[in-house]
Amino acid sequence: MKFFVDTADVPAIRDLNDLGMVDGVTTNPSLILKSGRDIIEVTREICGIVEGPVSAEVVALEADAMIAEGRHLAEIAPNIAVKLPLTWDGLKACKVLTGEGKMVNVTLCFSANQALLAAKAGASFISPFIGRLDDINLDGMQLIADIRQIYDNYGFETEILAASIRTVNHVTEAAKIGADVMTAPPEVIRKLASHPLTDKGLETFLADWQKTGQKIL
Ligand code: E4P
Repeated sequence: MKFFVDTADVPAIRDLNDLGMVDGVTTNPSLILKSGRDIIEVTREICGIVEGPVSAEVVALEADAMIAEGRHLAEIAPNIAVKLPLTWDGLKACKVLTGEGKMVNVTLCFSANQALLAAKAGASFISPFIGRLDDINLDGMQLIADIRQIYDNYGFETEILAASIRTVNHVTEAAKIGADVMTAPPEVIRKLASHPLTDKGLETFLADWQKTGQKIL
């Protein structure tokens, strides 16, 4: 499973990237707002750190304007994935931009039928939002499973990018289902390393080590 970081926070990206944990980055207008930085400038900096796909989202609503914004964003670096919303115009823009050889991440996917359309429009990635479905008492993980089954039934090559991940359990479940990629905030990725029994075991080992009176160095 590839790990994308869902943030425009450069120090956090750098930190995880140094550990080899970053296969790509996803941003969106809310994350750009949170960063407090100019979209072009911060995206260029992220593309200089991370080798894999860096999603940058358009904000236009009409296909031609989305295409123009997408082309502009794609000029930032060769590893830009243009992020387009799952609307009819977004699908039109997807078809055109992927036809030009650009990577496209179709976002705001909340149904298997939407994912089917994105694959037919040639999307490189489909981003089903798990957490936002869970927020309204729907089953976000079932959507990942449904898309996996449909894409496998027909051999679609669009990668399933499990998004809106809020918990470490979301990561486990998405990995079990076979999502190709997951994108999560840096704090969720860091939490993957935590287990109370690891902390407890370490505490015991260190207490016993003290009793030996030994030193390694
Ligand atoms: C995905 O690309 C989105 O940026 C993100 O995962 C949305 O997550 P949220 O629902 O926690 O805002």
